[in-house]
This record gives sequence, structure tokens and C-alpha cells, in this order.
Amino acid sequence: MQPDAILYLVSQAYVSAKRLRALKAGLLQASAVPARVARMEGAEAGPMTALDELVHDGASAILVQPVGLPFSDSLGAWLGGALGHWLRKNPAIQLALAQDQADAAEVHAAVAARALSKADAARLITTDEAELNNPGWQDPPPFRHHLLVCSGPRCSYREAGSIKDVLTDALRREGIYDNCLIALTGCLFPCNQGPLVAVYPSGHWYRLTKPADVARFAAALASNTFVPELIIHEVKHHEIV
Ligand code: FES
Repeated sequence: MQPDAILYLVSQAYVSAKRLRALKAGLLQASAVPARVARMEGAEAGPMTALDELVHDGASAILVQPVGLPFSDSLGAWLGGALGHWLRKNPAIQLALAQDQADAAEVHAAVAARALSKADAARLITTDEAELNNPGWQDPPPFRHHLLVCSGPRCSYREAGSIKDVLTDALRREGIYDNCLIALTGCLFPCNQGPLVAVYPSGHWYRLTKPADVARFAAALASNTFVPELIIHEVKHHEIV
């Protein structure tokens, strides 16, 4: 297959928006063909949106390049099936999954050579900056509902990122945003039923796939009720030993 576009799939659980922007800019600038960069975790638009955009812009043979050194084995194995699922809706497109680059000797050599060539720019660490217990990170904030929003790779593939933004807006509209402690989590395991939001102390795990579901969920939370048809799992506290 001769690619006419590339989708770079970044897998990195913890990365700041600034670093991600820099990585995206670098990859897009270095790419010889039209490209998109999508992240497998977090709150941005997911890979399916990026593939749709490339097709919309005229791509017909897309190379998917995993970016992450090394890229997760289990995620890499799952990715083929997920991309095949997208391909069913786009049968005229050729799609290929490139190899993880972590094993490439050229990549190792480039990292090692650059480390030494840029040693002058390295920041020297001194004992003056020794600090592990900043008081700003001491106490939990006040909250009534703890919302665990899955930002794992398989929920993100199902556009969990946009659901998180919609959720924030809906909680604000219902006037309960300040009562909620929202935490983005890694994979919670029932990925096939994502995007997932687990709520405590109620113990209800929700599948929220569209804005209308999120709005119903937020309204129910505000009135201390729940939406049974959106719940995929319930933790019964009396069963916890
Ligand atoms: S990625 Fe969300 S449950 Fe696995």
C-alpha cells in the first residue's frame, strides 16, 4: 500500500496539553503526506474522528502509525480490530497499521545521539529545589459526587473525550459542578460498554454515548436519582468485604 495520508496514534497516559501540542506540531511538520495526530487516552477527539477527517480531505490509503516508546502490546493487538470496525463503514479506503518503532535500532541510535549532543542544554539539578510535600497538594477538596471518567484507550476510541466536555457543561447547567470531583482514570475494564463514568458514593457505572444521555445523567445526579437504563454496573457496598 502506498499511503497518501498518515494517522499518528499517540498512547501516553500522562502528558500535558503543552507537550502534546508540541508533539503534534512536530509530527505534522515532519510528515511528507497529509496527517492527523490523535491520542488514545485523554479528553481530545479520538482516532475515529481523525480517520473520518482524513477521508473527508481526500485520503484513500491511510497508514496508522502508533507513537509511544514502546507502544502497549495489548493496545496494539486490540487496535487492529478497532480499525477493522471503522473500515467496515469505509470499504473504499485502504488502511494499514504500521509497526511499533520502539524496537528500531535507528530510533534508539537517534535518541542516544541526541541525548549527548544536547547535554549542554540539560538542566542541572541542585539540592535547593528538593521538595516533595508542597502544601497545595495536602487535602482533598470538598465534593459530594466523585465521578471517575474513563479516559483509557478503548473509551477514548469511542470518543470519551468529547463526552467529558459535554459532561462538564451539563453539570454546570444543573448547578452541581462544584459538588463534583471529576477524575480522569485509566481503563476500568468493561471497555466494550464505554464511554464509562463511574459515580461514587452511589456506586453506579454509566455508559454515556451521546450528549442526550449525559444531560439525563446530570439532571438525575442533581436530583439525587439515577437513570437505570444507562447503568451498566452497580457496586453494592454491603457486598464489599
Ligand atoms: S478504556 Fe474505558 S473501560 Fe477500558
